[in-house]
Amino acid sequence: MSELRVRVPATSANLGPGFDSFGVALPLLAEFEVKSARAWAVDVDGGGDGIPAGEDNLFVVAARAAARSVGATLPAQHVTQRSTIPLSRGLGSSAAAIVGGAVAANAILGGQLDRRTLLRVASEVEGHSDNVAAALYGAFTVALQTPDGPVATRLAFPAGWRVCLFVPGEPLPTERSRAVLSKEVSRADAVFNLSHAAALIAAILRADGALLSVAMNDRLHQPARAKLVPGLEEIVGAARAAGAFGAALSGAGPSVIAVAPARLAARVVSAMEDAAVAMGLRGRGRSLRVRAAGATVQRA
Ligand code: HSE
Repeated sequence: MSELRVRVPATSANLGPGFDSFGVALPLLAEFEVKSARAWAVDVDGGGDGIPAGEDNLFVVAARAAARSVGATLPAQHVTQRSTIPLSRGLGSSAAAIVGGAVAANAILGGQLDRRTLLRVASEVEGHSDNVAAALYGAFTVALQTPDGPVATRLAFPAGWRVCLFVPGEPLPTERSRAVLSKEVSRADAVFNLSHAAALIAAILRADGALLSVAMNDRLHQPARAKLVPGLEEIVGAARAAGAFGAALSGAGPSVIAVAPARLAARVVSAMEDAAVAMGLRGRGRSLRVRAAGATVQRA
């Protein structure tokens, strides 16, 4: 009986100007034990909080989509899921399940799918590519759409930088956070994001914190979402004042991500927590290194 252990990292998307394009992998993991079984079933350790346990589970949907993409049918599997990724907090919990299913299916099918096909399948299930690209490739990723499907490229994240997160107690469903975005953007806002996104890449390549501090700003999604995320502006301001290079909404929110030099990370996290408390918000801060590795599969 084949048995697999799949690990997939949490991810933070956008990082300010890279809406639906930038992602970064974080060392909070979703782990899936996969064994062949008579029928598909997903057991979520710790209860699952409304996560579907059958064929509509995202892991299963993605696993079957991956098999279909190479004309195969996947035998049913029993999946046990353990995850330290908070749900509906803008930290890629759905992307982790999707990538987990796709890479598990690929391992079961003997590795017939290349990474780009996995990215395409996962992006189709998720609806956008930024979180799934970082979850698959690790480190910092840029995902772009091409006529031949999504492409992603991976960059190492500066070793001396840390990600500081504030994770609110209240969830925010991604659909709700996408529903407030306008379909049209002005040319001025498009140019603003284009230039800031390009500068953010240069800042990462050169480990240039001063450049990151001007680059990590957005006009395409964050202003519209601010009304859904109480305290966003205050937590971002507190992180910057405590020495973060920059801070932004993490993915669709409601978590806030700041990037800081390692020596200031603890101070930045405390400042974010203090700002939240001052706004009467529950939640928790933490500082993390970016995870270099994407999803991994081990045969048990
Ligand atoms: N880029 C996506 C968004 C990430 O901002 O809606 C959410 O999964």
